[in-house]
Amino acid sequence: MATRTVTITDNVSGKQVECPVHEGQYGAPVIDLKNLYKELGMFTFDIGYASTAACRSAITYLDGEEGVLLHRGYPIEQLAEKSNFLEVSYLLVHGELPTTRQFDEWSHAIKMHGMTHEHLSRFYQGYRYDAHPMSVLAGVCAAVASYYHSQTDIYNPEDRMMTARRVIAKMPNLVSKIYRHQSGLPFVYPDNAREYVENFMYMMFSWPSEPYVPNPVALRAMNLLLILHADHEQNASTSTVRLAGSAETNPFACVAAGVSTLWGKAHGGANEAVIDMLKEIKDPKNIQKFVDRAKDKNDHARLMGFGHRVYKNYDPRAKIIRAACHDLLDEMHVDQPMFEIAMELERIALNDDYFISRKLYPNVDFYSGLIYQALNIPTSMFTPMFALARSSGWIAQWMEMLSDGDFRIGRPRQLYVGAQKRDYVPVAARK
Ligand code: CMC
Repeated sequence: MATRTVTITDNVSGKQVECPVHEGQYGAPVIDLKNLYKELGMFTFDIGYASTAACRSAITYLDGEEGVLLHRGYPIEQLAEKSNFLEVSYLLVHGELPTTRQFDEWSHAIKMHGMTHEHLSRFYQGYRYDAHPMSVLAGVCAAVASYYHSQTDIYNPEDRMMTARRVIAKMPNLVSKIYRHQSGLPFVYPDNAREYVENFMYMMFSWPSEPYVPNPVALRAMNLLLILHADHEQNASTSTVRLAGSAETNPFACVAAGVSTLWGKAHGGANEAVIDMLKEIKDPKNIQKFVDRAKDKNDHARLMGFGHRVYKNYDPRAKIIRAACHDLLDEMHVDQPMFEIAMELERIALNDDYFISRKLYPNVDFYSGLIYQALNIPTSMFTPMFALARSSGWIAQWMEMLSDGDFRIGRPRQLYVGAQKRDYVPVAARK
């Protein structure tokens, strides 16, 4: 029972409603508005959900003012340094870090579900070689739903865990096939002698006529990128997955909805848009001109990879990537002139009043594309990489939602501003 309350008064009718306030482990307390409509006959109005907590969650916490990101309580800096993506996905789904035995079982289970039905391979042929990979990924994720639809009981915790394993296991396979299709290369089956990230790189880059020798620096870079993108609280794509899931939709169809939302350049598509922006800038001497355009309200240009709804400080993931980018490009002996442009662009923006006063800092995707590029991943495949990582967070959040005692379909209301009730006019009488 909450002891703190907030009373909302309608100063026209004089009616009041006393709303309990719930305190979380960290973060802003939330006002419980469950009785608002019943008592006052009013809804809340919060475009973009800037002040709305849509659910309770124990998975990820982020403090935008301090630049803090925790998964199940563990700081992202420690996970990035000490963990690997498969372990982080276990942590998100199960809530605790695995023991050695639990990790081995998890790794084995993921390997056992890495294949896809052979018919699905033909699905890719329906797309043109230059179809955007996010469009293909949304399509194939929805197609996978058809294979498990009749066998999945979303109210059975064992089925939910099986679904989590399937999603995490199959995403590398689904994503790599997009790249192979685009490149005119044959699809590669998973090789269970390889660990998760190596297996993904093998399915992406192995050459049919050559043995595949993984590059340890590239594996480390890919692991890091996947960890940093694995989950991020109630962002647009995660909220989409939850909303779709709240209608009791097939979980792979929910993932397809998440992929579609992630594609947008205000969200996951920003990693691709950053590289397009750096290419457009081309030379450090053009940076100021671009920054001026980003500040101009009459110009649709924005500084891609800058700004975040929650972070009003340096995105902690961007800090990690920025440091890693330098080392990795050096270790991989990649000459990346765009990295120099990115650093100079960051310096100019961070010293500009427009960005300072609005607390706009680089976000995770300001530097991620430069690492993907160094790994020879084409620009249009960057957002599918993000989706591969984020699908672990999506499915953990989907599982959490379904096991919450307060679970019900998501159904926002609106402020109706349309026409008043009026009578139908036959076409001949319309002016
Ligand atoms: N460049 C120029 N101005 C900006 C930018 C930017 N990148 N981002 C925000 N602003 C301005 C915005 O115009 C507004 O100015 P004013 O107060 O004068 O109207 C102010 O800053 C506040 O911005 P907002 O649009 O209200 O912020 P939001 O929380 O609605 O949007 C955002 C957040 C991430 C969509 C936005 O910052 C943006 O479009 N950034 C570029 C795209 C990007 O990098 N997205 C990746 C986000 S991180 C990865 C992920 O989570 O997917």
